[in-house]
Order: sequence, then C-alpha cells, then structure tokens
Amino acid sequence: MGQQSFFETNCRNWEERVPIHVRDATGFYETEATLAGRATLGRIEASELGDIRGRRLLHLQCHIGLGTLCLVRCGAQATGLDFSPRAIEAAREFSRRAGIAARFVEGNVYDAPTLVPEPFDIVYTTWGTITWLPDIARWAQVIAAVLAPGGLLYFADDHPSAQMLEQIDGRLVATYPWRTPPEAPLVFEAATTYTGDRTPLANTKTYQWIHPVSEIVSGLLAAGLQIEMLREHELLPWKPFQMMVPAGDGYYRLPDSVSRIPLALSLRARKT
Ligand SMILES: C[S@@+](CC[C@H](N)C(=O)[O-])C[C@H]1O[C@@H](n2cnc3c(N)ncnc32)[C@H](O)[C@@H]1O
Repeated sequence: MGQQSFFETNCRNWEERVPIHVRDATGFYETEATLAGRATLGRIEASELGDIRGRRLLHLQCHIGLGTLCLVRCGAQATGLDFSPRAIEAAREFSRRAGIAARFVEGNVYDAPTLVPEPFDIVYTTWGTITWLPDIARWAQVIAAVLAPGGLLYFADDHPSAQMLEQIDGRLVATYPWRTPPEAPLVFEAATTYTGDRTPLANTKTYQWIHPVSEIVSGLLAAGLQIEMLREHELLPWKPFQMMVPAGDGYYRLPDSVSRIPLALSLRARKT
C-alpha cells in the first residue's frame, strides 16, 4: 500500500469523528467554553510557547479549530491546516460563531509548503500529530520550508515511550516496536473515538507511526532547526491507559502504584 492510501483511510476515520467531536457530548473539547472565551491553552503549552502576540502562526493538524481560536485569543494571526474537509468546515463555523478571525486551509501536512507558503513566525502542532505522519524527516523539512528565518516550531505530543505500551490486565506492557517504518505502519482498529462518546464508528481502521525521539531531533536538525528546549512530562491531556487518574486542568497521570515514565514530549526549535 502507498502512502496515499494510508492517508485516505485515516482521513475517512477523521471525517467520521468530526461530527462527534463537534457535538462534544462528553465535554472533552470544551467547545462551549472555547466559544464563550473561557478556554485557554493547556498548562504545558501555555508555559512553554512564549509570547505569540502579533505573530503569524501556522497550526498544523488543527482539527476542528478550537485550539486555533485559543491561539488567536492569545494574540496570534493564525492559520489552521488539516486534511479533513469536515474538520475545516467545522473550524470555519466555530470561528464565525466565536467572532474570532482565523484562516483555515484544507490539505495534507506534507503539502503545506505549496498550500500555505507564506513565511510564518511560528509553527504550532500539538497532541495527536506525528503519529499520523509516516515520514518524520519530511515533516521537519515541511516545517523548515514554511518558517521565516528565526521562526519557531512549538511541538507537544505523547511520548514514543508511552506509545509503545498497552494496558493489559492492569499492567503496562511493551506491545509495539519503538520505531515504525514509513511503509509498514501500525494498524489500529477502534470502534469509538477517544472522547468517551460511545457513538460507533464505521471507519474503524487507522494507520499510525511511532517516531523515536532521536529521529524527531535528528530530522529537525537536518532541516536546519536548532532545538532550544526539549522536555518530558508525566502528564497527558487524554487517557491512553484506563488506569490513568486526573491530574488537574484536564490532564491525566499514571497512578502512584505504577513506575513513572515519560508520557509527553515537548520542544521548541528555531530555524536558523
Ligand atoms: C488528534 S487531532 C489533532 C488535535 C489538535 N491538536 C487540536 O488542537 O484539536 C489530529 C488531526 O490530524 C489530522 N490529520 C491526520 N493526518 C493528517 C495529515 N497527513 N495532514 C493533515 N492533517 C492530518 C486529522 O484530520 C485530525 O484533525
């Protein structure tokens, strides 16, 4: 199978999730709070991103645009990009309802240099991003291509060490290899989406990739970015493992009975 058919399968899955996420029956997306101006960036992003006022910002894999609207509220001139037509449609509608101006562009991350070539001061991409992308070196090149000289990438996502694990019989078990070749993705089947909404999905299959920290860092360095911050966190804004417990502000952590492992990775990298 070629990369295009991996993308098509994944996009069908995302297209089906969009109306469930827009409905937000479980409150996972804090849609009403976002539209009413109460929701902000998560505490990890807020403490690490820095001042974005007046900056031209590209939000890659913006999904239904709620995060993008928070970025505009923090002062950025934001463009969101996502390959799901329904997600982009929902993002435009939320932007209109909230009265917050943002631009939303439909397309694949790998086509960003053609779709949104204007140089950006910041590329922002967080939580559920590179697992959907087969080639991490090319991802880094895309980011370098759309950043202005001196521009910043901010990235935060689940840690590859955590992505290797599954909770089985109450224990975390190393289940998946630590790196996924671009041409041989992990194949997942999930009957429902991750928000806790039990609406069954028809397009249950997805293809995903685990990218080791070394490949993320080497890809960015090879693309001409300098890493100015790299952090690991014991928190995630969703619960990949049932055993996780609330850690405040919408984050989750492992229970005290389990050895600490890094659950999230965040970095700032600057185009030289
Ligand atoms: C978990 S969501 C990201 C959530 C996002 N961080 C937010 O702020 O809501 C993943 C998104 O990636 C998008 N996506 C997956 N693969 C993509 C690709 N190759 N190009 C563009 N978007 C992609 C999906 O459509 C989906 O909206």
